[in-house]
Order: sequence, then structure tokens, then C-alpha cells
Amino acid sequence: MEAAGTWALLLVLLLLLLSLTLPASRARGHLPPGPAQLPLLGNLLQLRPGALYSGLLRLSKKYGPVFTVHLGPWRRVVVLVGHKAVQEALGDQAEEFSGRGTLATLDQTFNGHGVFFANGERWRQLRKFTMLVLRDLGMGKREGEELIQAEVQHLVEVFQGTEGCPFDPSLLLVQATSNIVCLLLFGLRFSYEDEEFQAVVRAAGGTLLGISSPWGQTYEMFSQLLQPLPGPHTQFLRHLDTLVAFTAQQVQRHQGNLDTSGPARDLVDAFLLKMAQEEQNLSTEFTEKNLLMTVTYLLFAGTMTVGATVRYALLLLLKYPEVQKQVQEELMRELQAGQAPCLGDRVRLPYTDAVLHEAQRLLALVPMGMPHVVTRTTHFRGYTLPQGTEIFPLLGSVLHDPAVFEQPEEFNPGRFLDVEGRFKKPEAFLPYSLGKRVCLGEGLARAELFLFFTAILQAFSLESPSSPDSLSLQPAVSGLFNIPPAFQLQVRPADHHPTVQTR
Ligand code: HEM
Repeated sequence: MEAAGTWALLLVLLLLLLSLTLPASRARGHLPPGPAQLPLLGNLLQLRPGALYSGLLRLSKKYGPVFTVHLGPWRRVVVLVGHKAVQEALGDQAEEFSGRGTLATLDQTFNGHGVFFANGERWRQLRKFTMLVLRDLGMGKREGEELIQAEVQHLVEVFQGTEGCPFDPSLLLVQATSNIVCLLLFGLRFSYEDEEFQAVVRAAGGTLLGISSPWGQTYEMFSQLLQPLPGPHTQFLRHLDTLVAFTAQQVQRHQGNLDTSGPARDLVDAFLLKMAQEEQNLSTEFTEKNLLMTVTYLLFAGTMTVGATVRYALLLLLKYPEVQKQVQEELMRELQAGQAPCLGDRVRLPYTDAVLHEAQRLLALVPMGMPHVVTRTTHFRGYTLPQGTEIFPLLGSVLHDPAVFEQPEEFNPGRFLDVEGRFKKPEAFLPYSLGKRVCLGEGLARAELFLFFTAILQAFSLESPSSPDSLSLQPAVSGLFNIPPAFQLQVRPADHHPTVQTR
């Protein structure tokens, strides 16, 4: 008992000591208002780690769309809520708001390396290079589209094989989308039965869950204290380690059979060739660490984001059968029988496109946005944000901004259509964020979402073994990411378009 008391006292003293080393004072800049912080806890009384996003929304009701909070004793964050504030910062002052902030759960592994976590010159070079290589590999071109169409076809065949029996589509959907990114990164496509591939995809899921869980959020607040201690916050790291180890293994395989005369077969090849070119440059950013960390993040993002979004869109169609019917009618009317949908069909499918956008809006996959920092002292809305101030642009609050989207919690594809039924996209549709850090995979994600969604709906009628009323749309976990709930799906061949060929 006595020993426990001594430990508790020591812990409190340690926290107090650490919190005194804080750059806590607002006097260093003229920061937006916010709740007073307690010395050891920051704003823990106002912000529960399991419900950080909703806590921040609640605070914005009191302090307005731009306010300051303290996540634990060490992190001072300026929060941006709603379309106007996020647009003015990340859009109108793009350069100043283009720094990457902290993701404490991942920082130990990435340590400022790779395109997602890098800052300054390192980030500029890695971003430019990655975008160019993805374009050279066919993204935004016909080759990239064919690659996605071929994977969609594999998935449709596996769906067909379920012969109307209920199944959980989660793993298959992430495997299919992961295959696309694996082709681009490693030049590899895996069978859905491949156990190593299943382990990698599960590791990506475990990582997502870990960073979004209440423990992940607690870690974001108290990382310096929790880091040396064992506990649930460290368990997800073995998933992340699996992803890194898989990437390292693929890099090694490429190093073993690299053709230095090119051309690059995939992104790892391209990076290795660039490393060879820059061998003499002592300050090069094309290092093995940046290669490993860029590719690990792309593998993670390419695996988890699109699969989860398609899953949520399918769930919505089970919940709203009349919407599914309208999508299928449009597909039947506008697409040629027996031909796989292509990106060029988008303009003729405004309703389908609206449903997909509304699903993405409602899900708000990344509700808290990804953390930014200001790259220099920045004047914003009458405040002065010192260089390095962390910024949370709450993208969920943009996608659900009542000033733009009437009754934002309702599923209403009509909001993406004009009076003549043509597709329209409000400026506040920003699931990929905006500004200089805008999602690097946006083009790829948009193409995948459209091609997967339309091909599945062209081939099948979707049913649920349970009644639509009983299906919940609530995320299974809501934290840094909103992870849609699992559900059972039954597919039956749609009456139209019996066999499908790619164009
Ligand atoms: C539905 C799909 C996706 C959504 C909603 C999404 C959303 C986002 C968001 C919100 C950010 C943070 C932007 C910011 O810092 O303000 C981001 C960054 C990023 N995303 Fe995505 N993403 C998706 C798919 C993908 C895919 C498929 C890839 C790549 C294969 C990808 C790669 C990246 C990278 C590399 C960054 C960091 C960019 C940088 O820091 O310069 N994303 N994404």
C-alpha cells in the first residue's frame, strides 16, 4: 500500500516536472481562446480520450470555430472547425499551414521520414518524386484504369462464388484495394487466399484500429509518459512492425534484381534508381529510411482507406434499398450490356456518383483531419500562431457543416445533384483535405471508388440477411479514423449484364 502511495506521488511529481518544461504560455503568440488547462492534465477534463472528436466539437460551441486546446500537458493544438475556417487556413494560407504535425502513435517508427511524416525540403522532394512516379506508372491514365478494372473483375468473381450465401465483405474489399497499391509499389498482385497477404492486410487493419482506439487517443495526449511503459497502447505496434517488415522484404527483393538501366517497374524500383543516381550527394533525401517509410505509409493508406469507404457505401445501399434500385436503374440505362464501367462513364452516371460522394461525406473517414503545423509565425483571423503551432483541421466538421449541408447527419444523395439532376460538388466536399498536404492518393482513390462501386452494382443486387432497420451506420470505432461497422452481405446476379468484359 505504502509502496503504491510512493509510486503515485513520484508519478505526480514526474508529471509536474515534465509539465513545467512545457512551451505552455499563450503569451508567446496571441493564440485563439480555449478552456484553461490544468498543470498535469491539459484539457483532460473537457476531452475524453475515447471521444476526442466529439469533445472538440462540443468545445467549438463555446469557443467558436478557431480555438486552442491542450492535449495532455505537452501538446498545444489550435483546432479549426467548419468549412470556412479550414478553407481559410489550409486553402488560403496554404504555405504557412503546410507543415506536418505529430501522430504520437506512429512517430517513433516513422521519426519524420517518408512522405507523410516529413517536413521542409525532405517532404517537398519526396512528395514531388512520389507523385511523378505514380503518374509514370499509369495513375490518371488509361493503364492505371485498366489495372483497377482487372482487380475489380477478380473481386466480382469471388463475390459470384458466394452464390447468395451471407458473407462479410470487409477483408475481400481491403485485399482488392491493397492489390492495386501492391502492384504500384512492388509490381506484385496477391491471391486473396495467400496467407502472407492476408496477414499484411490484417496488420494494416490492426494499425488503423490501434491509432483510432481510445488507447491510441490517450497516447496522443500522454505519449511522453506512456512511451516507456508496457500496455495496450504498444500492442498495435506489432501490426505496424508487420507492415514495415513486409515492405523491407520487398525492398530487399528489388535490390537483389534491380536493372540499373531502367525503366522502373514500380515505385520501389524508381526509388532505388533515384538513390543510385544521388549516391554522391551527401545531403540526399533519397535514403533507405525515406524509401521504407514512404512505401510503408502508401501501403497502409492504399490498403485501408478505399476498402473501408466502399464497404460503407455498400452498407448504405443495404440500409436504403430504394437508393440501390435507383443506382441500378441508372447503370442499366447508361452502360452497355456486358461492358465493365470505365472512368469516362462517370459523366453519364450522376446519381451513382452522387450516392458515392454522399457515402464518403457521411462516413468522414478522417474526421479529425491529419495534424498540421504552421511552418512560420502565422497571422490568422487576428491571432498570431507561433511557428510550429499544431493545427487540427477537423475535416468531419467540414463534411458535416450545417452551413453547407442541410441536415448533415442524413443520407441524402440529392445534395450532390442540381435541379436538372446533374452532378454538382460543393466546395466543402473535402474528404481528402486541401492545400499543399492534400491527399497524395486522391486521384487513385477517386478512380478506385468509382470503378469498384459501379462494377459491384452492375453485377449484383445486394441484400442483407437482417432487415434494413436493424443495420447500424455508426462507426465501429471513431477516433483518428471512422471505421465502418462490419456486416453480412448477400449478392445475387443483377438481372441485367450477365457477363462483363473490360474495354
Ligand atoms: C478514400 C480514400 C482516402 C481518403 C479519404 C484520404 C484522406 C487523406 C487525408 C485527409 C490526408 C491528410 C491531408 C492533410 O494533411 O491535410 C491524406 C494524406 C495522404 N494520403 Fe490519403 N486518403 C485516401 C486514400 C489514399 C490512398 C489510396 C493513398 C495512396 C496510395 C493515400 C496517400 C496519402 C499520402 C501519401 C498522404 C500524405 C500527403 C502529404 O503529407 O503530403 N491516400 N489522405
